[in-house]
Amino acid sequence: MTDPKTKSIGVFDSGIGGLTVIRALMERLPHENLVYFGDTARVPYGTKSEDVIKQYAVQDAEILIEKGVKLIVVACNTVSSVALDLLEQRFDVPIIGMIHPGATHALDATRNNTIGVIGTVATIGSNAYPRSIYELRKNVNVYSAPCPLFVSLAEEGWSDHPASKLIAQEYLTPLIRYGVDTLILGCTHYPILKNVIQQVMGEEVALIDSGEAAADEVIELLTEEDLLNPSTMAPRREFMVSDVPQKFKQLGDIFLGKTLERVTRVQI
Ligand code: DGL
Repeated sequence: MTDPKTKSIGVFDSGIGGLTVIRALMERLPHENLVYFGDTARVPYGTKSEDVIKQYAVQDAEILIEKGVKLIVVACNTVSSVALDLLEQRFDVPIIGMIHPGATHALDATRNNTIGVIGTVATIGSNAYPRSIYELRKNVNVYSAPCPLFVSLAEEGWSDHPASKLIAQEYLTPLIRYGVDTLILGCTHYPILKNVIQQVMGEEVALIDSGEAAADEVIELLTEEDLLNPSTMAPRREFMVSDVPQKFKQLGDIFLGKTLERVTRVQI
């Protein structure tokens, strides 16, 4: 029987963006085996209805369960916002989403108890981040703004493009007026635009990368459950997508910071 510690951590996302979460996991847990599924055939999820997102989320998780993973990380903020409870009910393995870790890190960072949240239309519409923040602390002001165009800008690789700055100013100015001192990047793609967002928000505003926050929670959970992989060998890392892997490979450079050698296509 396979030692549960050597099983892979499963990560899924609506597409490419979850590679920012893989990156954070690889930095912190270099010896863990990883398996990633990106639903590139059906991306984006952020503009879809809750029912459809839930249906896709279960199918995505099933792909990872078939791989025998020890834990599932829901890298997609949109899925984490609307389908985490459902996934927890459906599957026996521990499941970590983006919302709770992002909320916790934001509360640790804020000095004036005024937090901003940005994400897809579905994530912001679900109110998941403010709910999670208020569960942890009552006397906080939370202001949210959907930033749908950021997804396309990140996929173009326009991390420092003047157009990205203009759009960021348009989306973020209301949050600056509310005086947020901490901003949750509540979407897989937004860390790619971190520099522009920081310039627009101002240096003193703390940006919370929910993927990095979730990677910290993964370490805590694996430690508590005694599931950390003790191996010091080079890990197995498998990447699967539901549509032509070519674009995924190209974008891997931007989102992961390294080229993906092997990406396989699976039927969904
Ligand atoms: N992965 C999604 C998220 O983090 C962004 C892309 C999409 O809309 O599917 O919300």
